[in-house]
Amino acid sequence: MKNRDVYGLYINGEWADSVSGKTLLSDNPAKPSQILGVFQKGNHEDVANAVAAAEAKFESWSETPAPQRGVILLRAAQLLRENKEKLAREMTMEMGKVIGEARGDVQEAIDITEYMAGEGRRLFGFTTPSELRKKFCMTMRRPVGVCGIVTPWNFPIAIPAWKIMAALICGNTVVFKPSSNTPLCAVRLVEILERAGIPKGVLNMVTGSGEDAGMSLVRDENVRAISFTGHRDTGAVILKEAGLKRVGLELGGKNGIIILDDADLHLAAEGVIWGAYGTTGQRCTAASRVIVQEKVQKKFEKILIDRIRKLKLGDGLDPATDVGPLINKAAQEKSARYVEIGKKEGAKLLIGGNVPKREGFFFEPTLFTDCSTDMRIAQEEIFGPILSLISVKDFDEAIDAINSIEYGLSSAIYTRDIKAAFEAMNKIEAGLTYVNASTIGSEVHLPFGGVKHTGIGAREGGIEGIDEFSETKTIYVDYSGKLQRAQIDID
Ligand code: UN1
Repeated sequence: MKNRDVYGLYINGEWADSVSGKTLLSDNPAKPSQILGVFQKGNHEDVANAVAAAEAKFESWSETPAPQRGVILLRAAQLLRENKEKLAREMTMEMGKVIGEARGDVQEAIDITEYMAGEGRRLFGFTTPSELRKKFCMTMRRPVGVCGIVTPWNFPIAIPAWKIMAALICGNTVVFKPSSNTPLCAVRLVEILERAGIPKGVLNMVTGSGEDAGMSLVRDENVRAISFTGHRDTGAVILKEAGLKRVGLELGGKNGIIILDDADLHLAAEGVIWGAYGTTGQRCTAASRVIVQEKVQKKFEKILIDRIRKLKLGDGLDPATDVGPLINKAAQEKSARYVEIGKKEGAKLLIGGNVPKREGFFFEPTLFTDCSTDMRIAQEEIFGPILSLISVKDFDEAIDAINSIEYGLSSAIYTRDIKAAFEAMNKIEAGLTYVNASTIGSEVHLPFGGVKHTGIGAREGGIEGIDEFSETKTIYVDYSGKLQRAQIDID
């Protein structure tokens, strides 16, 4: 392989080849002939080695004072900041996100790393009176053990950072299995933590396929927790295969934006465009349904079409580009398939729907109208730039429509009516609701996650992100010097 950079697995502080010697390539979805590097295709043996290294280091890392763990994270945050531009450029080349959004991805990683570094000086438990005399009660947080972290490609630095930083600050050791679409971003994040001084074996990385490396991690009995973001069907398999360990899942969405007839339609259109076509629709939080009150439907469609016409497709490194490519050929074919499905179902294609004639995995920003809530294009996660417009009579119908899906990640409502806004906050079945803002743009100090088929309860970010990676231990200290029996020796 001529002049190609070769990257290793990262196990016990060493960069190493996979046991099998097999490798995988990472390409640029805007120019698929450009290969960014050769990466190891780790398998179950590599995973077992990584888990063993993580297990061996668990005791010393969990006993390192949490504020000292935080110092390493702060150094990592600083290195991420110093390398932000380089990381963003590589990210754009590896997965096509436009450069501005790639900078945002790295910034999100900086933010969560700083946030979790600060948590090293908190990791609070609570104290409470006992029902008995001379007895003291409190809780403390303990690490879980070896954590397996399995991440997607669409936020190739931010999502791994959300999970890894939270796991590390709590005193866990980590085996990280990044998406095979973005191994270069994963290597860069690990290199930064290595330079920040993370001790050998505390963080390990195995690149490789989901079926082999990913599932070996999920099944490994020495792994105490799995945190996964990705496709719902994969999440369901993980839940079945994980056995008796903690499982945190973030499994996507079919997020809707409600536009009531009193809304600022231009503001709403900006939110819809950003939500639907940002990252080429490849966000779990992307807006893929817009639910518009009948009275303003035609006017809103016109505003959207005008805006969509102006969107510039291209290489994400070009600052004039609004919409980059999809991640790969399969994603491009999936979007094309859903356009056909939408047409067959009777939805009306207003704009887009084609694969443009150019190099790279591009797809035109697409808008369907006259959709009903039961159509597949209004039910299934496409992960492409395809938006379905559903018109409704009134607020109640809008709520029924937005809730008519199996997922429950993000949601939004545009209205000037405070009553409608508060009703929506209560009634929309989702982990996130935005008022007069789009479905995307979560901040790291607030919990992130969803209901229904989006997840099974865990939240990332903020204090709840700590909950995912720590166990609560309850402590009773009896200083009475005699046997006191709870519930019995009460006076
Ligand atoms: C995802 O789409 O997988 O709120 C995560 C957002 C981002 C995270 C999205 N901060 O859109």
